[in-house]
Amino acid sequence: MDSFGRTIDYLRISVTDRCNERCLYCRPHQYKGWIAPGENLSDDDLVRIVRVAAGLGFRKFRLTGGEPLLRPGLVELVRRMASIPGVECIGLSTNGVKLAPLAADLRRAGLRTVNVSLDALDPALYHRITGGRLGPVLEGIQAAVRAGFERVKLNTVLMRHVNESEIWPLIRFSAEHQLPLRLIELMPLTSRDVLTPDNFLSVEEVMERLRREDELVPAPELRLGHGPARYYRLVRTGALVGFIGAMTQTHFCDNCNKMRLTADGRLRPCLGHHDEINLHEALRASDDESLRRLFFHALAIKPREHEFRSCYQPGRPMTAIGG
Ligand code: GTP
Ligand code: 5AD
Ligand code: SF4
Repeated sequence: MDSFGRTIDYLRISVTDRCNERCLYCRPHQYKGWIAPGENLSDDDLVRIVRVAAGLGFRKFRLTGGEPLLRPGLVELVRRMASIPGVECIGLSTNGVKLAPLAADLRRAGLRTVNVSLDALDPALYHRITGGRLGPVLEGIQAAVRAGFERVKLNTVLMRHVNESEIWPLIRFSAEHQLPLRLIELMPLTSRDVLTPDNFLSVEEVMERLRREDELVPAPELRLGHGPARYYRLVRTGALVGFIGAMTQTHFCDNCNKMRLTADGRLRPCLGHHDEINLHEALRASDDESLRRLFFHALAIKPREHEFRSCYQPGRPMTAIGG
């Protein structure tokens, strides 16, 4: 438990800061802060950290990036992590580009849930936002469904003037395929051109628009994962939509249950605060006591909430933290 009485049992692990897309909201245009290859945690380091975290009470783990599927040997890493006592759920957040050939193996290795970024269904707009191609992502989503994950969810970052026209098509797609869609407020974790006050679109405004065409019924009983989304049923469309009001909803940080690990071995108590704790020295020790102490230190300094409201840029862009 942290100093604000929150139970922290969810660790998001960034396994690489590299990505095969270049989403507008994720990293600055000419980003130069890439982690040097020698700084990345090894598989053995990651397995050890997960073992220590699980021993301290962490139960949910999520692999993020950059793009986690770019990390060689990810299937084997999932297998090793899934066999650690105390690890109840491992999820993956991916852009979906490389998901199709890996989905079945990841499922067999013990991965339970997959969240796929999908910011547009119009191929040209998808390309404008991500720099990538929509086709392989749609194939990846289908492959994940076929592989039998417990849940496959879709993530859309809301950007006024960029993808607001895609909201209804995405909702209809989500209803048609029975995949929950989450609409996420844009957070100031990049310096690319989309990050202007003019591009911000709140979940409240989107809900108001949706209510003009459909009935939204809150589904508080639905915990479709372990993150901050609040889910609603859209009665006429038949979709399940989760709203992630990272910037505007005050309950958001009150219910925080997580900590983050960056690919270069920094424990980050909060997405929106620059504090990080370097684990490298503790990883050189032969016993786990120093690692455990650093987890407790991270817990002790975890802030009550993020500092996004002051338009704070928290030191690193999204691609280096993993969402
Ligand atoms: P599940 O609910 O377990 O599926 O996970 P999730 O929704 O937390 O994971 P995902 O990686 O799909 O993240 C969805 C969005 O929520 C991303 O934009 C994340 O950055 C954001 N998010 C998740 N956790 C936090 C958090 O603690 N703080 C903030 N500010 N944003 C978060
Ligand atoms: N603001 C909000 N969400 C973001 N994501 C990435 N960058 C941002 C940002 N600046 C989301 C993507 C991805 C998830 C892991 O994080 O939707 O699916
Ligand atoms: Fe938790 Fe920080 Fe995210 Fe708020 S911004 S929910 S405190 S990690």
